[in-house]
Amino acid sequence: MYFSLATLFVSALTLLSGVRALGPRTQCVETYRISNGDTCSSIGSWSGVTPSQIESLNPGMNCNSVLKANTYICMGSYTPVCTLNETATDTLCDALAAQWEITVDDFVQYNDNVDNNCDNLVVGQPYCVSITGCFPGNTDAFCDQ
Ligand SMILES: *[C@@H]1O[C@H](CO)[C@@H](O)[C@H](O)[C@H]1NC(C)=O
Repeated sequence: MYFSLATLFVSALTLLSGVRALGPRTQCVETYRISNGDTCSSIGSWSGVTPSQIESLNPGMNCNSVLKANTYICMGSYTPVCTLNETATDTLCDALAAQWEITVDDFVQYNDNVDNNCDNLVVGQPYCVSITGCFPGNTDAFCDQ
């Protein structure tokens, strides 16, 4: 278990409030396969993730109903921090993705206000193009050029 409680707490708050900041999407980084007889409380006792946190991490899941064995649930999530924004000059993300050497899927992942086709950008608005310090063009000594 390497997820931090602080991350979980922030994720839970974000999910509960339904408010999403503009930026990278929250990703599930820790999953668990349900065993026969598991309950949210039993999972909570060894993992430290409370039943209400489990419900927050798994929208639609109800800890009061019987958990289905062999299905996977999310136990920890992480929201990357954007390290570089770039202004859109097109409604498509292809050119920006190519320029910053990321895939279209990455672009969608980094921008929760962009649809899966990556074709609804607003010209003139900033979009996240990196979640690492070493984006193309960064000449910092610790970046492998
Ligand atoms: C990128 O833009 C988002 C949304 O406006 C902002 O919250 C974030 O701080 C910006 N990040 C950088 C590195 O400029």
